[in-house]
Amino acid sequence: MFTIIGSTGHVGGATAAALLERRAPTRAVLRDPARASDWAARGAATAIADLADPAGLAEALRGSTGAFVMLPTMPSGDDAQHRRLADGIARAVGDSGVPHVVLLSSIGAELPDGTGPIRWLHHLEERLQETGVVLTAIRSWHFQEKVEDLLPTVLADGVYPVFGESADVPMPMIATVDIGVVAAEALLAPPGASEVVDLDGPSYTEREVADRLAAMLGRPLQVVTIPEIGWIDAMIGSGVPEHLAGELAALYGAGERGILQPRGDRLRRCETPIESTLRRVLEATALPIP
Ligand SMILES: NC(=O)c1ccc[n+]([C@@H]2O[C@H](COP(=O)([O-])OP(=O)(O)OC[C@H]3O[C@@H](n4cnc5c(N)ncnc54)[C@H](OP(=O)(O)O)[C@@H]3O)[C@@H](O)[C@H]2O)c1
Repeated sequence: MFTIIGSTGHVGGATAAALLERRAPTRAVLRDPARASDWAARGAATAIADLADPAGLAEALRGSTGAFVMLPTMPSGDDAQHRRLADGIARAVGDSGVPHVVLLSSIGAELPDGTGPIRWLHHLEERLQETGVVLTAIRSWHFQEKVEDLLPTVLADGVYPVFGESADVPMPMIATVDIGVVAAEALLAPPGASEVVDLDGPSYTEREVADRLAAMLGRPLQVVTIPEIGWIDAMIGSGVPEHLAGELAALYGAGERGILQPRGDRLRRCETPIESTLRRVLEATALPIP
């Protein structure tokens, strides 16, 4: 049995779906019992647990051959709360006795600081290693789905905001469906020893993403670069809680300064192009499309 936490989210959902496609026994961990029937209809077992409850989470993980774990970003959570949640997840992994864990991590997670939310993934990688579990840490670049966060501004104002000095710097962007496949494959064929897998994927500039989105929407979009000094105010203005805005600004700053680089044990290429993800995001949005 493979147990998946965060199964209602992007990557956990993609991992559970990839396992089910491969007819692997899959258990989706949920915190909302109302979501269980969706997964049951797709052939998954379910367990109810809150990540903030290590004993309940250990119970949900117990008896698994392997587990997928991730650390949710809590919009109103501070540094200490994220580290506490990470500690609890690692404790649950250790207590459950699960032999192999696949962690959703990030490029830059080898760095202890200066990377905003990525430093919580550094913390979780370390805590999991201390449990003695065989750990596959999958370090991803930005998800292609980050465009979801921009959609309200894009659709309402015809503006595509870029948190950077330039909209013309190519960078890898990874579709979360691809991460789900990599995670499922790692669960089905666990390595002999812990390893860090860096993802690579198709590269785009923000202007190229905006152009493709504009073509799909059938309307022009104005690409607006926001200089670093204005990042926090711009995020707060669009509803991001102040603390998280500060963390994200640190992350974007690390990206601008080029300190986020693949430094794992091996590289795994992901191929889904941004067009597929943009199409899926537009089909799924509840926002009115003008
Ligand atoms: N965005 C990027 O570009 C990027 C790049 C690299 C790495 N990452 C990392 O990826 C992670 C986010 O992954 P994602 O986008 O797949 O997540 P997501 O879509 O935001 O999903 C979060 C999941 O966590 C669950 N969850 C949240 N709090 C919980 C709790 N207290 N108990 C139980 N379940 C809880 C949610 O369940 P509910 O449905 O019940 O809320 C949901 O299933 C973060 O660690 C981030 O740093 C992100």
